[in-house]
Amino acid sequence: MTDDVRDEAEANEAQIAVYWREEQIFQPPQSFVAQANMRDPGIRERFDEAHFPDCFREYADMLTWSRPYEQVLDTSHAPFWKWFVGGKLNACENCVDRHLANYRNKAALIFVSEVEDEPPVALTYQELYVRVNEMAALLRDYCGLKAGDRVTLHLPMTLDLPITMLACARLGVIHSQVFGGFSGKSCGQRIQDSGSRYLITCDAYWRSGQLIDHKEKADIAVAQARELGQAVDKVLIWQRYPGKYSSPTALVAGRDVIVNEVLKRYRGERVAPVAMDAEAPLFLMYSSGTTGKPKGCQHRTGGYLAYVAGTSKYVQDIHPEDTYWCMADIGWITGHSYIVYGPLALAATSVVYEGTPTYPDVRRPWRVAERLGVNIFHTSPTAVRALRRAGPDIPATCAQHFKHMTTVGEPIEPNAWRWYFDQIGKGEAVICDTWWQTENGGFLCSTLPALDAMKPGSAGPALPGIYPVIYDDDGKALPRGSNIAGNLCIRNPWPGIIQTIWGDDQRFVDTYFKRYCKNPKSTDWRDWPYMSGDGAMEAADGYFRILGRIDDVINVSGHRLGTKEIESAAMTVPGVAEAAVVAVADEVKGKVPEVYVSLAAGSKADPAAIVDAVNAACEDIIGKIARPARVHVVPDMPKTRSGKIMRRVLAAISNHRDVGDVTTLANASVVDDIRRQVQG
Ligand code: WTA
Repeated sequence: MTDDVRDEAEANEAQIAVYWREEQIFQPPQSFVAQANMRDPGIRERFDEAHFPDCFREYADMLTWSRPYEQVLDTSHAPFWKWFVGGKLNACENCVDRHLANYRNKAALIFVSEVEDEPPVALTYQELYVRVNEMAALLRDYCGLKAGDRVTLHLPMTLDLPITMLACARLGVIHSQVFGGFSGKSCGQRIQDSGSRYLITCDAYWRSGQLIDHKEKADIAVAQARELGQAVDKVLIWQRYPGKYSSPTALVAGRDVIVNEVLKRYRGERVAPVAMDAEAPLFLMYSSGTTGKPKGCQHRTGGYLAYVAGTSKYVQDIHPEDTYWCMADIGWITGHSYIVYGPLALAATSVVYEGTPTYPDVRRPWRVAERLGVNIFHTSPTAVRALRRAGPDIPATCAQHFKHMTTVGEPIEPNAWRWYFDQIGKGEAVICDTWWQTENGGFLCSTLPALDAMKPGSAGPALPGIYPVIYDDDGKALPRGSNIAGNLCIRNPWPGIIQTIWGDDQRFVDTYFKRYCKNPKSTDWRDWPYMSGDGAMEAADGYFRILGRIDDVINVSGHRLGTKEIESAAMTVPGVAEAAVVAVADEVKGKVPEVYVSLAAGSKADPAAIVDAVNAACEDIIGKIARPARVHVVPDMPKTRSGKIMRRVLAAISNHRDVGDVTTLANASVVDDIRRQVQG
């Protein structure tokens, strides 16, 4: 950890020490408890350390296996754990085929268009089965794809996305879905890293009242991938309105193919699900890390699916009768685990909403919930804060009724939590504040909704089978329940953890295990704690309060952005010599990036033009979510004598905090100049 990062963590800790107080706890409503999937307090003992790793059979047993596994956990190649060794299964079969007997004509997915005049479209399990089979036939016979190949998807929130994912899973093809809001260049980089020869995208989709041209990003993505050395053979394009091409961007002859046209050739085709090894990769999900290059988080088939099924059942409390709506995007891990794989493994009805939650007005989510009879609702603190700001008294007057609500992705302030509970949940719904990460596959900390009291602002205790530990910077484990902030780690492997970083085993070991590994030669899992990269503290009652990232990652609206990625984007602007990105507290989004740039000596560039160019570069290279809140063109960066940019000083200025002692800097006088410029 670099010095300036450590200083950040200390600042957080000090702040928390001042503001922290024990919150009033809330008991789950009796009406919820009476129907909950998991009401047996014995679960904690069943999953305690004495029963590890066999406890996870309980999750694996929720799945249908083509061949039973022989061993629950193999640690012989630590920390490359193997789960449910020897077992074979197919993820698509588990999410679709096996439900036909009981739920053939029950809705599996309900699509809600952003355009309110377009009625929702329900896809039954039978219809999902038909569509997935036809798409699998196309992928196999038209594209020639087979188990182990990678395919990049760059799709928005329509039914085409889960259909494509499940069709890949049916064949054992590894899907890599890139968040639709990411730029073409981001997509191209991920195509190259994963070695995909096919890109599956769409022509257009609705967002905030506009039919956005998405196809133009495909052309940029293919060019970017080619520049990096990866050729794309075909671009498969789903039409938002089948039969009508809705993009102004021309098709490229010989390369671009309209999926729904070609699908006609495969009408009625059936493709047997390929029984995959439990350890076969199911998908890649790229996530930001501390260097500029995103990490391809590689998830396994058996362990991942078992873990998301188990946590969907016990934490999300999903029953087949429920209508479940997670407002996240399937392009993030939350959507993979808790819109597609977890809910469908349990035969739930899962809602896919295309657009902005508050379009055309802030009552929209509650109209959707009422119309579809949604009873489980899942969203982020950013959405909660935005809805509160837009109309604090509105949800209570609307017709939604939830039994269960989830929050995920960032810490939720206790007062925002109470508003969520009172106004959106009307005091009828239990809340689960779920802490986890792309690398984790599924929830790690959360209350078990019928068994544990809720504490606003705390993610709750570790889930069954998860044994956390908080280390200080010297590698000493803090006493349990000490309320002291440190680095949150998980002592044990669990089935949802990634297998590795795609193509980079060393980075996997270095990022998550190197710092606290007790013996790099050991094959005992006890020597390999997983480092989450989050700061946290554990209260006396065993509840964890998550304090945020300790590394160079900014959490904007619950989405991870690497500061290095943004800095690299800013550095592409001609004339920019140095760039530094800091996280600034924001009332709605939690954190937003501010960019500082200094210009090459003698540069005559107009600062206003530089600001525009930096904004454009961030949007173009990463995506709109990376657009800086502000860009400051400064005369010089505050630097240590060894020449390191002191981001901590810039962060203090942007956040109107005390910059602390800067007398040891190489150029201390520049700090006042920058402060005057930024704060006025
Ligand atoms: C943060 C999203 C506080 C955390 C599932 C983590 C949270 C990062 C919570 C992972 C929570 C996630 N409370 N912070 N309940 N959930 N985080 O990979 O900093 O997109 O490391 O996965 O989000 O973000 P990712």
